[in-house]
Amino acid sequence: MQKKVIPGGVQIAPSLLSADFSNLASEIKNVADNGVEILHLDVMDGHFVPNITFGPPLVKSIRNVTDLFLDTHLMISSPLDYIEPFARAGADLLTLHSESLSADTDGNPTVRGLTDLREMAKRLSDMSCGIGLTFKPATDPLPWLMEVGGILDLVLIMTVEPGFGGQSFMTGQVPRIELAAALKRDHRWRYALQVDGGINTETAPVALAAGAEILVAGNAVFGQTDRKRAIETLQC
Ligand code: DX5
Ligand code: ZN
Repeated sequence: MQKKVIPGGVQIAPSLLSADFSNLASEIKNVADNGVEILHLDVMDGHFVPNITFGPPLVKSIRNVTDLFLDTHLMISSPLDYIEPFARAGADLLTLHSESLSADTDGNPTVRGLTDLREMAKRLSDMSCGIGLTFKPATDPLPWLMEVGGILDLVLIMTVEPGFGGQSFMTGQVPRIELAAALKRDHRWRYALQVDGGINTETAPVALAAGAEILVAGNAVFGQTDRKRAIETLQC
């Protein structure tokens, strides 16, 4: 099976975290019918972040009801132990946190951290699954991107502290989006640039102007009654 290409152009990726969990299949169909191509799945283990969501069985159930690109954000402590179950469940891309890999006290990658990341990229690619890398707001992405920017399918700049939906966009992260966009351009790297957290009609244009290509939106899509309008307004 071929690795699925991340849908191009400006994309809104609704975060399932804000959906009605008692009606997941119809929630997913609703956003797909309204033109969305990517669904963002927030996986939290109650350890890496102080919240628990879901694991591979739910990803598998979602895979059974949709062809949407399943963009899976792993906020978990031991990604090496779990990437295969998530890929087998049907995730199209797994985004790991640099903080869940080996780093020194300044947050710079260690040789071990880089080796693990490269190994996971290879294992995922063999399973036709993409790999993304993300960072908590306090982590400098530059040292990581300089090492592995060329092998990533996606870079995610967090604009909230990971763990919960419905938080406010951290404008202090905008230079990070610009940095990731400039590095991509200068090195001709292929990663898609995603922004996650606090995206709404006011902050979406800010993220897009900084170079974001995929905007994750939980509350601004699933929290709205008129999803079609919500998605269209975010895209402009
Ligand atoms: C936070 C998650 C986000 C969150 C976004 O840890 O990674 O994906 O669900 O929700 P909103 O768009 O409501 O900030
Ligand atoms: Zn997320």
